[in-house]
Amino acid sequence: MSIPRGAISAVRDAQHVFVLTGSGVSAESGVPTFRDAQSGLWAKYDPLQLATPDAFLNDPALVWRWYRWRRELAARATPNPGHLALVRLARFVPQLTLVTQNVDGLHQKAGSRDVVEFHGNLFENRCLNENVIVTDAAECVDVPLCPDCGGPLRPGVVWFGEAIPAKPLETAIAASSQCDLFLSVGTSSAVWPAAGLADSAASNGASIIEINLEATPLTSDSHYNLVGKSGEVLPELLDCLPL
Ligand code: OAD
Repeated sequence: MSIPRGAISAVRDAQHVFVLTGSGVSAESGVPTFRDAQSGLWAKYDPLQLATPDAFLNDPALVWRWYRWRRELAARATPNPGHLALVRLARFVPQLTLVTQNVDGLHQKAGSRDVVEFHGNLFENRCLNENVIVTDAAECVDVPLCPDCGGPLRPGVVWFGEAIPAKPLETAIAASSQCDLFLSVGTSSAVWPAAGLADSAASNGASIIEINLEATPLTSDSHYNLVGKSGEVLPELLDCLPL
């Protein structure tokens, strides 16, 4: 695609870039998105039966089977050119805040640092009772148990109806109000509060660039809509910069 000159200038001149990524940035690594009709996770499963506190209390073994399947998928995945382009971008701009809704760890695997995991991390285990990360649990059981209190462990991700962890939320809200460029990549902009971060940036005068395959609720508020695969558009955008 030919990237508008204005979008290139906005990135070139940015002092603080806020990047918000969604599952679309991992799609080219073979990790399913959520809402894509045919290939998305939700085409096969009902998330409300799997990704809620009630679902876990109702059938923890079923929920663990789903998350183990997602862990295996994510563990086999490798970062794609979109992830790698964001590592390059962080080296180019004076300040970059990367907030991801993804839990697959691919940004970190690509070399991104200080990744703000807005929805937690698939590979973490947390004690359901004590709400602390547990690293030394026996994994070879249907429902791993906390070695400290004996209660069930849960995957360290945010479920429907749960609050975003305080630290990632504070970091993201602060950065969204300070950035001068907001880059939304591969997200349907459907889930709050992540979907509200762009509004915060725009209300503080930031330019908005969206990279997606389709229109989203953010599209009409974006200054530039780069329609295409993030694994192609992001490297092309970086190649336009005087690196
Ligand atoms: P969605 O599945 O809702 O949206 C993925 C977006 O990425 C869609 O708009 C696709 O068009 C786009 N997309 C797919 N492939 C792409 C590609 N190669 N390049 C660019 N864009 C592409 O996933 P999210 O927006 O990440 O929350 O969903 C947000 C949250 O909803 C998730 O974090 C999850 C879910 O509830 C929790 O689990 C708490």
